[in-house]
Order: sequence, then C-alpha cells, then structure tokens
Amino acid sequence: MQFTVITDLAPRHRSDCLVLAVYASRALSDEAQAVDRACRGQLSQWLKRSPLDGSAAQPALTLYGLRGVHAEKVVLIGLGARSRVDAAGFQKALRKAADAIIASGSASAALYLDSVKVEDRDGYWKLRQAVEILSAQAYRFDEMKSKAERVERPRLRKVHLAAAADDATALDAVTHGEAIAAGTAAARTLGDLPGNVCTPSYLVQHARALAKRHPRLTARIIEEAQMRRLGMGALLSVARGSREPPRLIVLRYAGSGSGDKPVVLVGKGVTFDSGGISIKPAGAMDEMKFDMCGAASVLGAIEAVARLKLPLNVIAVVPATENLPDGNASKPGDIVTSMAGRTVEILNTDAEGRLILCDALTYSQRFEPDVIIDVATLTGACVVALGAQASGMWSNDEDLARDLLAAGTYTGDRAWRMPLWAEYDEQLRSNFADVANVGGRDAGAVTAAMFLARFTREMRWAHLDIAGTAWKQGKAKGATGRPVPLLCEYLLARAGAHG
Ligand code: BES
Ligand code: MN
Ligand code: ZN
Repeated sequence: MQFTVITDLAPRHRSDCLVLAVYASRALSDEAQAVDRACRGQLSQWLKRSPLDGSAAQPALTLYGLRGVHAEKVVLIGLGARSRVDAAGFQKALRKAADAIIASGSASAALYLDSVKVEDRDGYWKLRQAVEILSAQAYRFDEMKSKAERVERPRLRKVHLAAAADDATALDAVTHGEAIAAGTAAARTLGDLPGNVCTPSYLVQHARALAKRHPRLTARIIEEAQMRRLGMGALLSVARGSREPPRLIVLRYAGSGSGDKPVVLVGKGVTFDSGGISIKPAGAMDEMKFDMCGAASVLGAIEAVARLKLPLNVIAVVPATENLPDGNASKPGDIVTSMAGRTVEILNTDAEGRLILCDALTYSQRFEPDVIIDVATLTGACVVALGAQASGMWSNDEDLARDLLAAGTYTGDRAWRMPLWAEYDEQLRSNFADVANVGGRDAGAVTAAMFLARFTREMRWAHLDIAGTAWKQGKAKGATGRPVPLLCEYLLARAGAHG
C-alpha cells in the first residue's frame, strides 16, 4: 500500500473513496461540510435518513455517487462529541473506516480528517495512526491456503492523507507509520506461520534475509556446539526433546557510533511449546505456535529501525527452540547449570521460556547494553491478570519503566507495570539447586519475572509478558504484532525522531 500526503480540497480530490468525519448529532466536520456544499446538501440529506448519527459506537456509512464530488464513494465515520475525541476513539474510527474502504473494493482512498482534534495528540500522531491502522486492517495471512481457497485480497493500493500545507511533520508521520506497519506485519506473519514451517532455522533465515536487505544490519548465529562452549545449559535443556536444533540469533543494527551503548531486545523464540514432558492439555495446544511472538516482535522492531535508519544502536537477541517431549527430553527434577553459573531445578518443563531467556540475557551482558528489554509469551498467569488489553511490564529501572509505559499509552499498545518485590523470590526456592524454574500457582507471572530478574541485576532491564496481547483467539485467531508499536515508539522517542 502506498501512502501520500495531499493538500487538495476534498470535493475535487480524485480517489475512489473519501473518508470524512461526522460528530454527535450529525454535525459535519469542516471537510464533510465542504463536500456537502459541493454536492448541494446531498450528503447531509442522506445522513439524515441513515442510522449514522455521529456517535462513536456506530459502523461507518458508505454513500455512492454524490453529484459534484469526484470520488465515487464517501465513507462517513462517527466520532462522538467534537470536543471529546480521544486517542482510542480515533483509532477505533480509523479501523472502521479501513474496513469500510476495503469492503467497498476501492483501489484508492483519501482520508480527510485533518480538522479532527484528538485529545492529547497532534497531527503527526493522527497521520501515523492512519498509516499503521490501514495497513493492519489490510493484513491477510493466506499463504498456507491453496489458490482455490484464497479469499480475495484487498484491492486498496493508494491511500491519500490530507494534511495542512504547513504541516512539516506529515512526511515523517507517514515514513514512521510505514516502517512500523512493515515491522508489525512481518511479526504477524512469523507468528501466523505454523510450527512446522516457522522453526528455529526459519527464524535464522528470516534474520539473515533482513541483514541482507539492510546494510546496517548484521546477523550472527550461534549454533549448538557454541552454546555448549558458552555453558548455556538452561537453553540447551529445553532443546533436548526436539529434532530441530536450537539457535541463538544475534541481529545487530549499527546506526550510531560504537561508543553509543545499544538497546538490546531479547525475544522468546519457542517455535512450538508442547510443554515438554510436563505436557500441555490438547485443547488449543495449536496456539503454542505463537510462543515465538516475542522473537517476532523484536525482529519486527529492528526491521522498522533499519528501515528508518534511526541514529541508535540496537541488538535483537533471539533464543530459538522447540519444546517437545522425547526420550532425550528434560524431566521434572532435572538440574541444569545456566550460563551465569547458577543451577536451576526444572520442576516443570513447561516453564521453558525463562530457561532460554536467562541464558540469552546473560549472553547479552557482553554488549554492555544501555537498557535491555525482553519480550516473551511467558505465562498463562499474565493472561489471567491482564487479559488482551495490556502486556505485563516489570522493570528494575524507574526511567525505563516510565518510558515504556509512555510508549504504550501513546500508541495504544499498552503495558501495565507489575511488582518485582523481594518477597516473591521465596516462591522460587529449590531444595536441591540455586533456584527452581516455577514458583507455584500464585502470582505466576510475577515469579516468572522474578526468575529473570536474577539474571539481569547488573543491567537496566525490563520484561514484557505478551502472553495475552501477542495473538487473538477464537474466530479471528491470529498474531497481532504487538508489542512492535510500543517498541518502535520507545526507540523513536529515544532517537528524538519526533516530539
Ligand atoms: N508459553 C507458555 C505461556 C502461555 C500459556 C502463553 C498460555 C499463552 C497462553 C509458557 O511457556 C508456559 O507454559 N508457562 C506455564 C508456566 C507454568 C508451568 C509455571 C504456564 O503459564 O502455565
Ligand atoms: Mn511452556
Ligand atoms: Zn512457552
């Protein structure tokens, strides 16, 4: 999809479809009024007869063939009270608009929403959101369907975004939105691919392809023998049950001087989590193909950074493996030695994410990160706590915690801070090793984070548990690409790329 900023007037604009805003009580936005005048009141007459009254709750209304208007179709979206349009409401309206444009089969569309004032947001945000949301609504994953079964892809190719002629941030907004949209779509595709395709070596191929495409990216792959030499006993213990060899992907983006300490993003890359010997129940086990969505999100974020050539150093580190039962698999009660030298009693082989992450975190210390952020579909307990609305966030650093929460709020890809209190640590006590890999039922998402905290004491660290946010269940089952928007916003803000 191609996005262009335009400054021409709505009635004269040549696209298949115009998007215009209506406020509560059928009050027209400035742009809608201009169109209404051009068609001599036809728009407001149709509106009066339609169920759309401008409240934010309603679906978009599509009108056809208004006279005096070049566009064939006009999509009207309700935004509620003019003075009370909030960020979430605007995003929701954009989703409805995108769905209506796509459903109408339009090949080109123009969004005329420049006059809409969104609480606590500016024109840059509105345009960037438009790009991200239209791209996200047009996402389809049909590469695993045979040709005959493929549903038609959206015809939408060209999107025009109306902005004021003096808006100097409009081009940045589009560029940023396109990069974030590409990173998000890439993360969704990796997540949606089945476990028999998206294996650890598939993730390696993906990282290598990214490095080939972007000169500032370099990929380094650590294989099993090297893991053994490095003493990654925790990571290796998870891979024991699998025929697919584990991989540790290190994808470095050099956008700044070598003296500039990097942001390290560590993503959980369990390409299928059966639970291992502590095997999961059969119901919905297919969803454990999404257990690499942390990996997908850090790869998506670094792709966006590379596209934008941000003046930062960023490193994505992905421990990738399957977690399967086998005669050679780890068993409950097994004790392994992590790269940090700490011994871990594996009381439950299904708590494998923290095992692969602890070695990846220890390994990452060599990069002397300014901050390190791990992203993982780590616990079912986090889904119980926060559902699909927010990712769980833990941090040992106040500034980092604040910045990540702010990035989540700004993008709507929200996170919520959870505690890292020493008292929880007692739950991880082991009779036989330094630490147990599970802490019982209570506060399961917190004890998982406490486990990781033991391996990051020397670093400014944050952990995002995305078990509830990384994919949707049910009829719309599929990866969401979260938290790529949050990560990208954090990195854009760090780079000072927008105000
Ligand atoms: N990948 C799962 C977490 C998960 C479960 C994400 C359900 C989304 C939905 C993780 O590896 C896991 O199995 N965690 C266990 C930990 C437990 C054994 C302490 C869990 O949450 O049940
Ligand atoms: Mn598991
Ligand atoms: Zn898992």
